[in-house]
Amino acid sequence: MASDISSTLAEGRTSASSAKSTRREAETAEFAQAVLAGLARRPRSIPSRFLYDAVGSALFEDITRLKEYYPTRTETALLETYGAAIARLAGDVDILVEFGSGSSRKTRLLIDALDGLDTYIPIDVSESFLTEAARRLEAEHDGLTVKPLVGDFTRTRHLAGAPRGQKLGFFSGSTIGNLTHEEARDFLVNAAHLLGRNSAFLIGVDLKKSLDILLPAYDDDDGVTASFSLNMLARINRELDGDFDIGSFAHRAVYNDAKGRIEIYLESLTEQTVQVRARRFSFDKGERIHTENSHKYSVPEFQALASSSGWRPVEAWTDDDRLFSLHLLRCA
Ligand code: TRP
Repeated sequence: MASDISSTLAEGRTSASSAKSTRREAETAEFAQAVLAGLARRPRSIPSRFLYDAVGSALFEDITRLKEYYPTRTETALLETYGAAIARLAGDVDILVEFGSGSSRKTRLLIDALDGLDTYIPIDVSESFLTEAARRLEAEHDGLTVKPLVGDFTRTRHLAGAPRGQKLGFFSGSTIGNLTHEEARDFLVNAAHLLGRNSAFLIGVDLKKSLDILLPAYDDDDGVTASFSLNMLARINRELDGDFDIGSFAHRAVYNDAKGRIEIYLESLTEQTVQVRARRFSFDKGERIHTENSHKYSVPEFQALASSSGWRPVEAWTDDDRLFSLHLLRCA
């Protein structure tokens, strides 16, 4: 899928824009199917990737700047401090492959640290984001070729059109924590095939910590995270002819100690009935819809996961407060 779509980037404007509207229709059909199935099952759940429409992506940008949300600024500081050490241990790198749309600030720090990089391949579902980022980075870096790949990076099976060369993968923001351990293992195994023998992989992983710090990061005082979370229901109203009363649902972030993860829910504050695409769903007071997991790891826990997924841990960096970690891995 990723390769078909990326090839449309080079085509004419008409076919590219019709490809875009076809893709939007396919995305809405997938959203509808996921929501109708997710609201019918118990416990109710809707996959987290649907949080990130244009409104959700903008709200997430706001989250990354919150005082309570430490991951973005901590990971950025780690790249600033250890960029040179990371580049040295990564060795000769010709091609940087980024999984998901990391913030351009983090990407830029890594690109600047890597000497002699030829090609940057960002993989993301958002075509407009990719096109803009590609244009900016190429303008800033003489001799760097940007080859964006439109698609879901968890489903990308090969790097269409990538030149030969030594690859470094980059997966930031602790997005790997949004996968279950089993999904994370599948992702890492697939990434080993995608990046190839002897490639390196730099992954940002959020650490286990006190709930006094962890819980506010997922439920801030200004309610930005709540708006981001509730946008799922607003999006259902916009795209799927839903009639959710957003004010009668609440954002909930709870830590599941046994599973080592934050769980995000939308909780019905009253007994109520909701319609989506002419189907009715009844909620009890207190009934929840699960929308996201954010797994937290200790450094040895993540290294054990990597080791069982085709990667050898090379080095791990953490900040002084041990909030966040950056792991450099080598394809085994
Ligand atoms: N990757 C982010 C994280 O796990 C995603 C995220 C941050 C998130 N805040 C959220 C997802 C609130 C749902 C709700 O930290």
